[in-house]
Amino acid sequence: MKILVINGPNLNLLGKRQPEIYGKDTLADIAERVDTVFGSQAQITWWQSNHEGEIIDRLHDAGYGKEKMDGIVLNAGAYTHTSLALADAIAAIPVPVVEVHLSNIFSREEIRHRSLIAPVCCGSISGFGWHSYLLAVEALLMKKTNGD
Ligand code: DQA
Repeated sequence: MKILVINGPNLNLLGKRQPEIYGKDTLADIAERVDTVFGSQAQITWWQSNHEGEIIDRLHDAGYGKEKMDGIVLNAGAYTHTSLALADAIAAIPVPVVEVHLSNIFSREEIRHRSLIAPVCCGSISGFGWHSYLLAVEALLMKKTNGD
């Protein structure tokens, strides 16, 4: 099973960025841990961009391009709360997308309570730190096993 983990804006700064909210692990640390657990069951590709259009292009590629994926884990960062274009891109591809957040977006500022992408994702995981990514990959594997 081919899984793409997409990380949006500012997530390249994990480890340095507000560690009291997002933890001390870098994205590379998180990738290594998740790959250690699920690397034998899935081919996991990690990718990050700070640019909305690039994320949309990558979603299109994962849906229809040469790099077609079986599942996507998406931490869209702040675009979660603002980007209808990202929601449209998710809705446009025939690949299940799991929304993830390190922090619990519902226990933070009100503007973060709304996710524009949640309705077009197959599920959302929020608030478990780096384990959010682990749970999201597990969810995609479970979905595949159950044939849905
Ligand atoms: C985040 C939560 C978002 O509200 C925020 O803008 C981020 C990170 C998270 O992983 O907790 O950049 O997606």
